[in-house]
Amino acid sequence: MCGIFGYVSRDPRGASVVLEGLRFLEYRGYDSWGIAVVGDQEILSQKATGKIAGAHTDLPPSAVALGHTRWATHGGVTYANAHPHLGCGRRFALIHNGIVENHQALRLELRSDHVFSSQTDTEVLVHLLEEEIESASDLTKALLAVFRRVEGLSAVAVVDAYTSEVAVAKNGSPVALGWANDGVYLASDANALIEHTRRIAFLEDGQAAGLSSNGVRLFEARSGHELDLDWCEVTWDAQKAGLNGYAHFMDKEIHEQPRVVQEIAVEKQDRARDLASLISRARDVYLIGCGSAHHAALSGRYMLSEVAGRGSTCAVASEMSLVYPQLSPESLVIALSQSGETIDVLDAVKGARERGATVAALVNSEGSALDRLADLSILLNCGPERCVLATKSYTAQLAVLQLTAHALSFDVERGTDELRNAALRLQELLDRDSTRRVIDEVARRTGDHEHLFILGRHRNYPLALEAALKIKEVSYMHAEGFAAGELKHGVIALVTPGTPCFILAPDSDFRREALAAAAEVRARGAFTVGFSPEDNADFDITIKTTDFASAPYEIAGASQLLAYRLALLRGCDPDKPRNLAKSVTVR
Ligand code: AGP
Ligand code: GLU
Repeated sequence: MCGIFGYVSRDPRGASVVLEGLRFLEYRGYDSWGIAVVGDQEILSQKATGKIAGAHTDLPPSAVALGHTRWATHGGVTYANAHPHLGCGRRFALIHNGIVENHQALRLELRSDHVFSSQTDTEVLVHLLEEEIESASDLTKALLAVFRRVEGLSAVAVVDAYTSEVAVAKNGSPVALGWANDGVYLASDANALIEHTRRIAFLEDGQAAGLSSNGVRLFEARSGHELDLDWCEVTWDAQKAGLNGYAHFMDKEIHEQPRVVQEIAVEKQDRARDLASLISRARDVYLIGCGSAHHAALSGRYMLSEVAGRGSTCAVASEMSLVYPQLSPESLVIALSQSGETIDVLDAVKGARERGATVAALVNSEGSALDRLADLSILLNCGPERCVLATKSYTAQLAVLQLTAHALSFDVERGTDELRNAALRLQELLDRDSTRRVIDEVARRTGDHEHLFILGRHRNYPLALEAALKIKEVSYMHAEGFAAGELKHGVIALVTPGTPCFILAPDSDFRREALAAAAEVRARGAFTVGFSPEDNADFDITIKTTDFASAPYEIAGASQLLAYRLALLRGCDPDKPRNLAKSVTVR
């Protein structure tokens, strides 16, 4: 989940180049950070807990530097546990993304004179390296010898103060290499390299690279055989996202959604037809994702059924074991992922490919592992999503699926019209002063509660799940979304006077059931908020939606705004909530 950035050059600004690279990667993990540079035959390092924003480096000039932003898996968020880890001497600085699953066993294989200074799983690697270097011909070979002993998904990078070389090895966690005029780079995300170079190579699982002032060499981890490096010229822009006057990326990216939906309406018709063609040829279709992407996938299931009469299955990517026995070469797996690096999605997709299934992807990050793995990759093109919460990438996934459903029913223009209208309706909702007033009132009247319930029937059930996720992950309130029909089968036991209950009732075809649920919770004293075109005696407050096809986007926009206001009210960081990371690259 962490961010890794390295630089081997002739430019003495190594530390500051790496610090800027880490700032770009901080979305990947922000418990703590650290940088190592090469001094006089020894490593000099700087580490700190907390976020990197506003930090500066006081390390001396160095043409070689390596940095890391941490998302802790083993050992608390402390200075000692921050990477890099130096081992017993100060020859090496090692950083790591992932989990060393056999770190206790590896510690027992070490000579007894090693002194540990952290509680992390990572630190054992640098001590192993101190032993392997004694018999290896160079740093990369020594790192490969260590890497072969590691179990679990990891990317490991290390710098050697004696040779000023850097070595990196990858299995599971992403690593991109960059070749520039001033030197060579490595990073967890190719987008962090684009301001320096467009000449990029992606390490594949089971590969390692050695970076030095002479260039880059690539090796196959198991055999140690040297491989040719496949450099490509990336054409996309990293679009370094600025706040552009907003206080937080979350607010900015919420307000980018109308443009995103509008652009998809017009520009993704052909891709929607391509996906529809795969769906029509498949015997069975599976929509998968994690978190918000799973909620979008679940909405996609309702869209394919209602618009095109096509059945499909939706699965949380980490629960793909349920689906594997059903897969065949006639199966189609549609994977949704903003980052394209979520390990549960990549595992699911690789497992599907092993069973002969065709894989399509809806992904925002061009060049990501999922973008490169899929047989058909549809880029969301919604721009960098810097807030850890999914907002515009979620509505972009909804829009592509809605367009695809209409393409499947041979009427993609209707999908375009619906999405154009939805973009307008969402823009109106975001622009209305009354929206902000109503959202602020709802936030004030619910913000001091610990539990909040969101009910949705049929196509509104996935919307309820997503609204609840937004609120819980950014305001730390316990919000639960569930199928409205399940209210009386248990959840109603938790409704007491004042309990906030949101009822999603945007559609005429399920409004009767939704209003019945509103009456039942109100009869027990709940504070009710209706998402509906009409007021109702059983709604204490109504957040106005408009029509069937726009409602998912209006509900998403309104619930995102509410989550944002609740976060501010409760003193939470909307862009980097505690314990979360933008890309979950560990299982
Ligand atoms: C969404 O707000 C969360 N940050 C999280 O659930 C996210 O949707 C999930 O981790 C999947 O990420 P992905 O889209 O990059 O695969
Ligand atoms: N498992 C390592 C640790 O807890 C690395 C975590 C990460 O990927 O940032 O320090």
